Amino acid sequence: MCGIVGYVGPQQAAPILMDSLCRLEYRGYDSAGIAVRDGDGHTTVVKAKGRLKVLSEKIDGGRTLKGCIGIGHTRWATHGEPNEANAHPHISGSEPDDSAVVGVHNGIIENYAELKEKLVKAGYIFYSQTDTEVAVKLVDYYYKKYPTPSKAIAKAMMRIRGSYALAILFNDHQNQIWTARKDSPMIIGVTKGETFIASDVPAILKYTQDIYYVGNCEMACVEAGKVSFFNIDEEQLEKETVHITWDANAAERGGFEHFMIKEIHEQPKALQDTLNSLLNDGRLDITKSGITPEIARGISEISIVACGSAWHVGMAAKYVIEDIARIPVRVDVASEFRYHCPILQENALVIVISQSGETADSLAALREAKSRGIRTLAILNVLGSSIAREADHVLYTLAGPEIAVATTKAYSAQMLIGYVLAVELAFERGVIDEEKYKYYIAQLQTLPDKAEGLLEDKERIQWFASKFSTAHDAFFIGRGIDYAVALEGSLKMKEVSYVHSEAYAAGELKHGTISLIEDGTLLVGILTQNSLYEKTVSNMVECKTRGAYLMAVATAGHYDIEDTADFTIYVPNIDEHFAGSLTVIPLQLFGYYSSVSRGLDVDKPRNLAKSVTVE
Ligand code: G6P
Repeated sequence: MCGIVGYVGPQQAAPILMDSLCRLEYRGYDSAGIAVRDGDGHTTVVKAKGRLKVLSEKIDGGRTLKGCIGIGHTRWATHGEPNEANAHPHISGSEPDDSAVVGVHNGIIENYAELKEKLVKAGYIFYSQTDTEVAVKLVDYYYKKYPTPSKAIAKAMMRIRGSYALAILFNDHQNQIWTARKDSPMIIGVTKGETFIASDVPAILKYTQDIYYVGNCEMACVEAGKVSFFNIDEEQLEKETVHITWDANAAERGGFEHFMIKEIHEQPKALQDTLNSLLNDGRLDITKSGITPEIARGISEISIVACGSAWHVGMAAKYVIEDIARIPVRVDVASEFRYHCPILQENALVIVISQSGETADSLAALREAKSRGIRTLAILNVLGSSIAREADHVLYTLAGPEIAVATTKAYSAQMLIGYVLAVELAFERGVIDEEKYKYYIAQLQTLPDKAEGLLEDKERIQWFASKFSTAHDAFFIGRGIDYAVALEGSLKMKEVSYVHSEAYAAGELKHGTISLIEDGTLLVGILTQNSLYEKTVSNMVECKTRGAYLMAVATAGHYDIEDTADFTIYVPNIDEHFAGSLTVIPLQLFGYYSSVSRGLDVDKPRNLAKSVTVE
């Protein structure tokens, strides 16, 4: 959710903090702030409501703030509306100069009301509605009792319930930044004489690709060019860096107008790289995750858990895995799974899908499965993320850093791993023979080129999107895998273009929702499953009769669809199980261009955050 950065070194901190915050703005963008300590030991806090550029204008990109140590924050509000008072950093005092302890925070402190009451009784005066101010004042409270940063933070950690990543400046420790975390990410990069902290890799990728991960319930003391780690008992910990192979340029727009369209174009590469990583001598190989053929044969059922688009991947994977590998698959949104005590067989495999590896509900679902002794496999894009560190097995999508809030390339790469699992499990369990196995692999190998070809047709979609840019409602329908992709197409539409949109299993539409169809309502039908083609066409016709304007996304060859649909996009032929990876591309483009036509902020849609690290 919120983005945290920090810097200590020989350079001026503020411009570096602002630059790093820019790369994290996708984590939150309703207000921002920084705190910089100058050579005289005075810490200045500047905050602004709105996008980062408002803060940047206030401090001339950071140039008006002098000092070589500081922390910064971009906020996605949880407690307290987005305004300047609630923006971070927060201070221990009630007056701007009273800043013995200054901190920024990502997460939610669940018992903040109880802690606030305690602090009010102790004489603290609060100026904001945030749980963060409570955390900062709590650290200050303990610091006054036990005047070492590690003790004060450890004491606060013991009292706080909830999730947090904190970066804290203590006035008495002029050259240090302290960090602590529980269930919210925090990374540290050390180069010659400089140290960077951030809640996410892209923020500091430009400075270093060798990253330390602060572990759960751990603290770190950051100084220029060095870092020390401690557990909650204040014992020092030894840590190794993890090398991130992401190219620093991958986190730049590289000539594209928005990250979203850049990332849509990166899908052929994401598919190719991910597939290559799972191929060995022409055969699929998932053993590097630790899933051996024996384990594959022993799985009795699969339970997929995820949020948002990753959940849509799960919906598609269910159809593909059940059909190809004949293993029962259930799919749950993680926020439901974690609380409803699902019935799982002893030999079940729980698959958690997540781009960031930090989504709070997905992490909790993983822990729920593990606590019951169920084997877990995570499909992730971010190396070293919280879910990566806790899952029994991990398969990585090689999509590179994804910056746009609305996911595209990570979704496609996740889908590919779903296909690979289906084929590999089917083969290991003797459900398909060698010939079929090779056929599926050959089909998968055609995906990147076919995806590339689809991108060439984007002008038609752009034209159609501009024509529909004033639409109020859209409906996406399909059956089977097409339904799963309809869910994603509809989400892309609503999240970036704010057009009310719903996805329905085509056969279900007439059980209520069809009453919403009126003259000119846009209905998008997805038609890639041959045996279901005519049925979905009938459902489209039912809507057309009631005034709907029809867009079809169909497999090449079904040219008769033009007798029914007003606008058609064809996708290349491929084995039907894998068609979702192609149909989603025009739908992503449609969402993107609808947003652009409406003049919206495509990469940072209102109210959303890329990585949801709170419940
Ligand atoms: C947020 C994002 C979605 C994403 C979901 C799950 O809601 O806006 O695009 O699908 O989180 O994120 P994850 O990192 O777990 O895939």
